[in-house]
Amino acid sequence: MSNFKFVTAEEAASYINHGDVVGFSGFTAAGSPKVVPTALAKRAEEFHSQGKEFKIGVFTGASTGDSLDGALARAKAVSSRSPYQSNKDMRSGLNSGEIDYFDLHLSTLAQSLRNGFVKRPKFAVLEVCDFNENGEVVLTTAVGISPTIARLADYVILELNRYHPKELAGFHDIYEINDPPHRREIPIYKASDRIGIATLKIDPKKIICVVESNNPDEVGGFTPVDEVTAKIGENVANFLASELKLGKIPKEFVPLQSGVGNIANALLASLGEHPDIPAFEMYTEVIQDSVIKLMRQGRVKFASGCSLTVSAEVLKEIYSDLDFFRDKLVLRPQELSNNPEIARRLGLISINTALEADIFGNVNSTHVLGSRMMNGIGGSGDFTRNSYFSIFTTPSTAKGGKISAIVPMVSHNDHSEHSVKVLITEHGVADLRGTSPRKRAELIIENCVAPEYKQMLWDYLKLCGPGHTPINLGACFGMHRTFAKTGNMMDTKWENFAD
Ligand code: COA
Repeated sequence: MSNFKFVTAEEAASYINHGDVVGFSGFTAAGSPKVVPTALAKRAEEFHSQGKEFKIGVFTGASTGDSLDGALARAKAVSSRSPYQSNKDMRSGLNSGEIDYFDLHLSTLAQSLRNGFVKRPKFAVLEVCDFNENGEVVLTTAVGISPTIARLADYVILELNRYHPKELAGFHDIYEINDPPHRREIPIYKASDRIGIATLKIDPKKIICVVESNNPDEVGGFTPVDEVTAKIGENVANFLASELKLGKIPKEFVPLQSGVGNIANALLASLGEHPDIPAFEMYTEVIQDSVIKLMRQGRVKFASGCSLTVSAEVLKEIYSDLDFFRDKLVLRPQELSNNPEIARRLGLISINTALEADIFGNVNSTHVLGSRMMNGIGGSGDFTRNSYFSIFTTPSTAKGGKISAIVPMVSHNDHSEHSVKVLITEHGVADLRGTSPRKRAELIIENCVAPEYKQMLWDYLKLCGPGHTPINLGACFGMHRTFAKTGNMMDTKWENFAD
């Protein structure tokens, strides 16, 4: 018997009121609470139907499932949201200005909460698969910011999700970093080092209730590898194999970080297949389907991450053979999985996806055509700036060729030319290390741009005057402005824009 109060999701939601700030567990749809946020959305709708206000501030590890971000956004129950999200209804809310969205590097969220840079959550709602009377809980498929919100919040609500087996105990490495001036080095020297404890310890007095549920994670499946993503994967794999041969990557190899989304998932599969790339370790943020497959094949030896963002099918496979994975996986808080100190020390090769890149190597990961937020910067900045070297991949075009992903100047800059070292599309590789902006422009246009946009970008370069970085201020957004007018960047005529 438990001393904690078991209640319905509706009763748990009734503790939370208009204006409260709530921190939720999880990272991506993995490990996010499901029934409490859905009940909270219903509560908001009831208030709204009576003409009363009901909105909360929401902090999460990263994106969540539809029953959290989707339900709350549709109920118009969110006043502010941080950090990364990827739900279409949440995205509409924050692009319409209805929701105040604050996007930041994921490694910095926990310390921003502790430092008081952002509002402290009053409630923490955590998905767990087990707990005891001392307040020791076993998290589920992600760690995210749970250790920090559980400590900072006044009240904790546990969502005991019986879909996840209690035997997940032991997969987590729970550790919270000291704040300055008492911070010391983080003693992780290889991807598989464990430095914390397996359970999250919460002051039991703060646990106000427990809600039982039995719901799978809401991770969407990945789109199958197509010709373009396969070619990008092949280009990345061949590039890394040649770097290895040239001795620019140590022969033992270094751990890899790989980003979120379909391209990242597809690309890892290509790396795994390459005969000249040795079996490798991952020190990454999200562990997606392809990592698990490669682990089965012995191609990935170990993966340290923040979440198991795998499809339902793959999660079932893991749960049916937990003992196989027990010494090959660890889940850590995001301030450890994405930590700059560790990325630098381990010498990670970071591989992330760009929405758009420019001819100098500046990368836009977040904003469609400069203003519309897609998801957020996530951990891409944490890794890119601090890696052994960083790679960005992108298909060379989007929207059936009407958009060139490579433009004279990015419409929003997330990763500057100083941090982006290699750019790879389905057409080839631009190795930007040790090159000037002029040389970078030539490499990127020649190697990465889609054939139908190449001449357009060479012509743009001719419009640029002297100077260290060739730029034509009147024309640099000409391709974007043309798309805004005609719906196709191919219609760009430089004489309409050039100074
Ligand atoms: N301009 C406008 N739209 C573009 C575009 C461009 N230059 N490039 C791509 N798009 C559109 C695509 O057409 C697609 O639109 P759709 O959803 O309407 O089909 C959408 O952007 C996403 O492209 P998709 O092919 O599904 O890419 P993905 O699933 O691989 O995700 C990112 C790519 C960039 C959105 C994703 O990786 C991301 O959010 N990154 C930022 C965070 C990050 O890197 N985290 C990793 C840290 S560990």
